[in-house]
Amino acid sequence: MFLNLFLGFFLVLAFGMLFLVFSELVAFVRTRVPFVPTSAADIKFISERLNLSARDTVYDLGSGNGKVVFLLEKLTGAKAKGFELGWWTYLYARLKAWFMSSKAEFAHRNFFKEDWSGANVIYCYLYPPLMGRIEEKFMAECRPGSRAVVRDFPLPNLPYAQKYYLPHNHEIYIYKI
Ligand SMILES: C[S@@+](CC[C@H](N)C(=O)[O-])C[C@H]1O[C@@H](n2cnc3c(N)ncnc32)[C@H](O)[C@@H]1O
Repeated sequence: MFLNLFLGFFLVLAFGMLFLVFSELVAFVRTRVPFVPTSAADIKFISERLNLSARDTVYDLGSGNGKVVFLLEKLTGAKAKGFELGWWTYLYARLKAWFMSSKAEFAHRNFFKEDWSGANVIYCYLYPPLMGRIEEKFMAECRPGSRAVVRDFPLPNLPYAQKYYLPHNHEIYIYKI
């Protein structure tokens, strides 16, 4: 009896770990961007600098486990939505939203194929080869007055409105259109 329980627990754990590693691998092959979360301190800094409020709608492009989305919603009351292609991180965020009765939305979608015009604030922490396409889509689809907040890897052409140096060698660039 005890042995069966132990084996069952071990199997669930092993399959859970396999799913986690496999889904992260598939997401990395598709996107070439690993899941690395933004620190809570940086998210708090961004929410204060941008003076975000319930009037704002924020999209996190590549939302990972939803950390940015949840924290911005909690700190500012902003409407927040995340797009994420990794399965385990996406499911984790959906489950957390359900447990927390959060209004945050998550979509298991490629953000390049989505319409960004619903957001007035775009956040991303991605990788240099993607930033040109991010810039084009931001300028083409977001309404005048919108802001893009980019961690570490700046947009290639659009001049930033502000740049901040954060602890642990991170930088935040803010763009306005
Ligand atoms: C460095 S992590 C940042 C996670 C989160 N935004 C944060 O700052 O805590 C980047 C995430 O973007 C996702 N990603 C990259 N390209 C994507 C795409 N085209 N569509 C959806 N998600 C994407 C990756 O799967 C990864 O989880």
